[in-house]
Amino acid sequence: MMDVFSFGYREGVLHAESVALPQLEEDFGTPLYVYSTAGLESAYQRFAHAFHDQDTLIAYSVKANSNQSVIAILSRLGAGADVVSEGELKRVLRVGIPGGRIVFSGVGKTGEELEAGLRAGVHQFNLESEAQLRLLSDIAQQIGKSARIAIRVNPDVDAGTHDKIATGRKEDKFGVPIGLACDLYQTAGTLPGIDVVGVDLHIGSQLTELSPFRAAFLRLADLIKQLKALGHQIAQIDLGGGLGVCYQNESPPSADAYAELVKATLGSFGCQIILEPGRALVADSGVLLCRVIEVKGTLAHRFVIVDAAMNDLLRPALYDAWHPINPVIKPGENSLSEVVDVVGPVCESGDVLGRARALPRLVAGDLLAIGSVGAYGSVMSSSYNTRSPAAEVLVHESRSAVIRPRLPLDVLINQDRMPDWLPAGNKSMGETGR
Ligand code: LLP
Repeated sequence: MMDVFSFGYREGVLHAESVALPQLEEDFGTPLYVYSTAGLESAYQRFAHAFHDQDTLIAYSVKANSNQSVIAILSRLGAGADVVSEGELKRVLRVGIPGGRIVFSGVGKTGEELEAGLRAGVHQFNLESEAQLRLLSDIAQQIGKSARIAIRVNPDVDAGTHDKIATGRKEDKFGVPIGLACDLYQTAGTLPGIDVVGVDLHIGSQLTELSPFRAAFLRLADLIKQLKALGHQIAQIDLGGGLGVCYQNESPPSADAYAELVKATLGSFGCQIILEPGRALVADSGVLLCRVIEVKGTLAHRFVIVDAAMNDLLRPALYDAWHPINPVIKPGENSLSEVVDVVGPVCESGDVLGRARALPRLVAGDLLAIGSVGAYGSVMSSSYNTRSPAAEVLVHESRSAVIRPRLPLDVLINQDRMPDWLPAGNKSMGETGR
């Protein structure tokens, strides 16, 4: 998280680029997602540079962080987009990414979603079943368009990551078993409105070793040879995302090593390589700024209760994920530290943001920054416990701007509607204050 480009201490105060985090608290309140433009740019440039000598489309997987400002920063540098829903498609179109730089993935696309993709002229649909293929063919014919497709194959490779984010094992719901893919490509070749252009896989997220990628890419290379022998024109190889980042002490492969592997295993086909990185482009460029509400507990077990919670950042509760937690004011050399659980106010024991962390003695009002939350942070937030999820702010050098405000509680609550058979009495009760 202490990437020199994005977050670091200056004179003992944690900054995002040139902006002190206490200033952001003052201006925008907490809990607050804070993103660094320079961090996003440097992550993209590192990734793109690794592939500079290969014909690639870097389709940023916007599910990792779909704020339009974040998408805009990456697209300005040349990124396309990987989307998995009509909503994500709308976002990236609104930011100005052309259909020709969009791939449409996802395990269960509806007819409406397929039609929206066709109308946008997406570069590639990644399809995961014969039913999806036939549905797309029908819709394409109806509206007089042709769909450029790849079949997402499941290579039965264990990505060696958290069980809930491994996607390439045969027991996972994703893709078509690689052994059945040729038959499905043969079917695809006969369907009107379907233009076979590529192959696709994605074996999981937060991979910290190259070996599962290698195993999957080699299986894909075999498939491409078979497809070519059958006469299919394979021009695009989509390798999904998955490259991991360092949250604690992992040492994921570098983008350079990953790019080398791609070239070595698949470079000889002369195809366009499509990559769908999400986390690797955005994780390190975000922190979740939060404020200590209270410190309680016994000397043996201290809880630091902060104003961010599992509704703002779900990863620790859902995956037991570890995120760095740092005090915004750097403790002095000789200051005492204590081991605490950093928890949110949500009414679940699982609402723990960091367990057994050594932190300086904290008091109410102190600020903490939870690091590496640029990916799968804000996008997974909810309003559980009727909490308005954290706002998002983007920093660029010494400037800062809200890129998603915190929803006022009244707006949140006013989403509910009362059916006409329920008595209106509750409302008047509220209004009369009874
Ligand atoms: N392509 C496809 C088809 C995907 O399903 C995903 C992620 C990606 C690309 C991007 O993967 P990345 O480069 O970010 O690893 N919420 C989880 C991660 C879920 C990933 C889902 N698919 C987490 O917080 O760890």
